[in-house]
Amino acid sequence: MKKVYVAMSADLIHPGHLNIINAATNYGEVIIGLLTDKAIASYKRLPYLSYEQRKIIMENIKHVKEVVPQETLDYAPNLLKLRPDYVVHGDDWKSGIQKETRAKVIEVLKEWGGQLIEIPYTKGISSTYLNATVRSCGTTNEIRIKMLRRLLDAKKIVRFLEAHNGLTGLIIENTKIVKDEKSIEFDGIWLSSLTDSTAKGKPDIECIDLTSRLQTINEIMEVTTKPIIFDGDTGGRSEHFVFTVKTLERVGVSAVIIEDKVGLKMNSLFGTDMPQEQDTIENFSHKISHAKNALVTEDFMIIARIESLIMNKSIDDAIERAQAYIKAGADGIMIHSKQKEPSEIFAFCREYKKINYRVPLIVVPSTYSIVTEEELIEAGVNLVIYGNHLLRSAYPAMIKTATSILEYGRSYEASKYCIDINEIIRLIPFN
Ligand code: SPV
Ligand code: MG
Repeated sequence: MKKVYVAMSADLIHPGHLNIINAATNYGEVIIGLLTDKAIASYKRLPYLSYEQRKIIMENIKHVKEVVPQETLDYAPNLLKLRPDYVVHGDDWKSGIQKETRAKVIEVLKEWGGQLIEIPYTKGISSTYLNATVRSCGTTNEIRIKMLRRLLDAKKIVRFLEAHNGLTGLIIENTKIVKDEKSIEFDGIWLSSLTDSTAKGKPDIECIDLTSRLQTINEIMEVTTKPIIFDGDTGGRSEHFVFTVKTLERVGVSAVIIEDKVGLKMNSLFGTDMPQEQDTIENFSHKISHAKNALVTEDFMIIARIESLIMNKSIDDAIERAQAYIKAGADGIMIHSKQKEPSEIFAFCREYKKINYRVPLIVVPSTYSIVTEEELIEAGVNLVIYGNHLLRSAYPAMIKTATSILEYGRSYEASKYCIDINEIIRLIPFN
């Protein structure tokens, strides 16, 4: 029996996929190279279904003999291992991101006289359309909550942006560019305390209660499918924080970040201009472990945010805290800085790499915005949060508009700061 290799993501199976598998059976025994989350995330959005879920589907499709993981977009490692007689693929990969993959498949197969068979692309069905449809149906709490851990496993760096209402959530959900033939977008939503408070006209001092903040979460969840990280400020009292994490977990938020401060919390970017007190290692560790014990799933993450650098303490102090918080059960460490340059963050990252048992590392480069994602990957950062940028960019335009109307006694001159009426009424589709 000849060996036939077919690589697939197999997220939303449709007749086009079955067509290829059926055609492949004419050449021999079909082995599916199922792309892992990592392989898919290297060029586009994570699939809806996890690798295990996709594997079960593929294993139960008629004529499929075996399913093996394909860890990269490049087929070569699997082909060299399996040495199939044939590779079968749709004929739609001669241009675009897969062009080079195709050329390499042909070249590798040559080594043992293998052949590439290309099947005409199935017309009238499109994964892009199916994807859009699935997205418009929304998601479930369970799929959404697990998405953050999946992203951290699959991507070199996970990218979050701040939202404070449904509209900004939609911007994060839908904004996408194509660069070097790869599709680039935001992976998830940061529910910033700064922007949630500011959008409500209140200071960032933990005065917006959980009920109001859940309202914002609900608005965002109704119109998005991406995972959410909640800015939990100090977490409040340990006894209260337990209930906060239970609530967040139940509604499908993926993680909470709490900062190691006590007393009246001010925004960290004030630095030491406002007197702020850092919590003791013991207290904060207790807060983390207490909350960890209250969780129902393995999915929800409690991330500890270290304020040592904000309070002008040493890198050693920050590292000592990181180690203690990880020991207490923290699922991630966020290190914050208000410097204009990333040097102190990099210094922390160098020391953090030396810790044996590490958890994902998170940064929020608001003041040191000069830093690039490439540099952060190099430093060992796993998740970057753009903490406040949608609100900060909207505000100046609103002020210009308000001032212009006062100045000219009409709104005509302000039009240049505004989206066109025709565009705004069609911005949100209603079916
Ligand atoms: C927030 O976005 O509310 C944060 C990050 O906590 S920062 O504003 O930089 O403190
Ligand atoms: Mg905050």
